[in-house]
Amino acid sequence: MQKVWICGANGRVGRKMTELLENTPVELLLTDIDAVDITDSKAVRDYAGMNRPHFIVNCAGLTDVAACEENKEEAFKVNALGARNLSVAARMGKARMIQLSTDDVFDGSGQTPYTEFDTPNPQTIYGKSKLAGENFVKEFCNRHIIVRSSWIFGEGSSYFSKIMKLAGEGKTIYAAADQTAVPTGASELAEKIIELMESAPDGLYHVTGQGSCSRYEFAQEIVRLSGSQTEVVPVAAVDDRLTAMRPSYSVLDNMMLRMSGISLLPEWKIMLERFIADRKDYTSI
Ligand SMILES: NC(=O)c1ccc[n+]([C@@H]2O[C@H](COP(=O)([O-])OP(=O)(O)OC[C@H]3O[C@@H](n4cnc5c(N)ncnc54)[C@H](OP(=O)(O)O)[C@@H]3O)[C@@H](O)[C@H]2O)c1
Repeated sequence: MQKVWICGANGRVGRKMTELLENTPVELLLTDIDAVDITDSKAVRDYAGMNRPHFIVNCAGLTDVAACEENKEEAFKVNALGARNLSVAARMGKARMIQLSTDDVFDGSGQTPYTEFDTPNPQTIYGKSKLAGENFVKEFCNRHIIVRSSWIFGEGSSYFSKIMKLAGEGKTIYAAADQTAVPTGASELAEKIIELMESAPDGLYHVTGQGSCSRYEFAQEIVRLSGSQTEVVPVAAVDDRLTAMRPSYSVLDNMMLRMSGISLLPEWKIMLERFIADRKDYTSI
């Protein structure tokens, strides 16, 4: 039976991947920082050596952009050295390494979608540390899949949950009209990661919803679908306290999926609609 080690299993994407793999014929090895701190190279090596996973999925990370800025060393330790430790362990155990990365590796100065062949130029510590993580994976484990995604929404704290909270409280929402990317459902993303993990050729893949929007349009759509009457006001990114320091344009072209004949995720609006409808079934908004 194939063994899949998910690091960062309590995070947004880690939880979704766990949920999807739980009732399938794989043995799941689930850890988060309390069980295996990925910055501890010995702990990573020992765990991998003892459990011999066939796949190592790195869903762990320091994902708070502002916290990364305030704590540069910690950001590089988790996002770069953590990825290094896991990819060394993957190479030693002949496992396939699956690394999650971000649209923040681009500087945001483009006006057309970034492909996997465009040169990254991160501007934030978060983006720089994630790019360093990608590079370590490529350097230390040739059997790898790197998945870059953007604006992930799902269960857990995120831009989506912050907007929902403000909408629930009837507070006016100020959202950046000059930040554009693609919202992506955690559920659909996790499904695609599993598909890539099992059958795609090694390499880097951009995996996002289709279409694109500004933060303002994203917030408006969340509010509309939730049935709230809350006002959403367009502002400049510097005045949007929920999203400071993100690239102004970071739409990812899913060119590698297209060229590999792998199906794309749906339009972001369809994924959002589906997620909110499912949520309504068991929780009040
Ligand atoms: N969210 C997005 O919009 C987005 C967009 C593009 C790419 N990504 C990438 O996708 C991946 C998953 O994102 P996510 O949103 O699921 O992240 P998340 O919800 O922040 O989850 C990250 C998990 O990693 C854990 N962790 C932190 N430091 C660790 C360490 N040293 N050792 C082991 N585990 C550690 C965290 O635990 P604690 O909570 O206890 O710290 C948390 O459970 C990340 O690589 C991120 O860069 C995310």
